[in-house]
Amino acid sequence: MAEQIIAKGLEGVVASETALGYVDGERGRLFYRGYDIHDLADEGTYAEGLYLLWKDALPTRSELSEFRDGLARQRGIRGELVDILRSLPADTTPMGALRTAISADASFDSESDDNSPGANQRKAARLVARVPTIIAAFHRVREGLDPVEPDPSLSQAADFLRMLRDEEPREVEATALDTSLLLYLEHGLNASTFTCRVIASTLSDLHSAITGGISALKGSLHGGANQKAMEMLLEIGSVENAEPWVDEALGGKKKIMGFGHRVYRTEDPRATVLRRMSAELSSSLGEPKWHEIARRVEETMLDRKGIDCNVDFYCATVYYTLGIPLDLYTPLFAAGRMGGWCGHVMEQHADNRLIRPRAEYVGRRDREYTPIDER
Ligand code: COA
Repeated sequence: MAEQIIAKGLEGVVASETALGYVDGERGRLFYRGYDIHDLADEGTYAEGLYLLWKDALPTRSELSEFRDGLARQRGIRGELVDILRSLPADTTPMGALRTAISADASFDSESDDNSPGANQRKAARLVARVPTIIAAFHRVREGLDPVEPDPSLSQAADFLRMLRDEEPREVEATALDTSLLLYLEHGLNASTFTCRVIASTLSDLHSAITGGISALKGSLHGGANQKAMEMLLEIGSVENAEPWVDEALGGKKKIMGFGHRVYRTEDPRATVLRRMSAELSSSLGEPKWHEIARRVEETMLDRKGIDCNVDFYCATVYYTLGIPLDLYTPLFAAGRMGGWCGHVMEQHADNRLIRPRAEYVGRRDREYTPIDER
């Protein structure tokens, strides 16, 4: 047999075509449907990015408001879903709760097993609309509080913060969260998106694919890194401690969370936006210390290893400044990525081929079977 080349971690393997997002790892650029993420983040909103991703066009003002209103009207979640969230053990992680809630939501969705383009679009809209409500409701019930009903007049980000705190956020807070969701929206064939596409390629349904995507995102080498990055900054605790802390961690061969990337060979373009937001927010909303510690960690990593930070690093300080509980950082990544995952499932279903790679067998061969009584 011809010699097989094994790409461990599928590094460098092109496993699919997509017209959704393009990650230019060499130049450190990211495009949604051909539009530079920096232009979208400067001018646009999550809803606009989502419209672009799903419909392959920038919306007019009226198209955008109709699209946004349509999503906002579907934000409410069923009482049964809240009951399920309430019934989970107290130490359930929010990512675990979200995974369970999306899987359970399928049972209440009459179109759950319908993979037609129309049903997929309707289910995708329902999922994107409901995820922030589920996250906020889970947080409230675990705190012994009642969930707050959504307010469709607000943007998704503003309404999430309101449902979390039972108080309307400031505009600057809602805008920062909205931009982070836009930056998380789509990122090519990352591990969670690939998981969604593998599941969709068996002609399984959207909810099943998304449940798998959430499970993949949960890990600390992927979406879990934003929470871990903030835990690290809290442990470092002061600007003076940043350099020795990083040196000791690197000396112990530890990975520094929020740094490095499989595809980018230069700075993650999303980190550029989030660093600026983190600086602005930390000086306008309160404690600049965490941003300063982050800066020192970043400088040390560049000096010692030449490794740039990724999207999750400054997202951590942005979310911390917004007062979001640490273990909701990764669920918010999921809320943003939901639009991208759904886009990829729809793309996969529209032009499907079962994804089924092979493994190089390295085990023993041709062993003689011994009947059980003779072993
Ligand atoms: N901290 C310290 N060293 C790192 C590092 C990090 N965060 N990321 C990469 N490196 C080093 C590795 O130790 C390795 O060095 P070596 O060649 O001397 O052994 C080299 O850079 C290559 O790293 P590797 O883990 O093989 O790269 P990868 O493509 O498999 O990993 C990540 C990509 C994202 C998994 C990796 O950078 C990582 O674990 N980062 C931390 C988690 C994180 O922030 N994830 C979110 C990604 S958006």
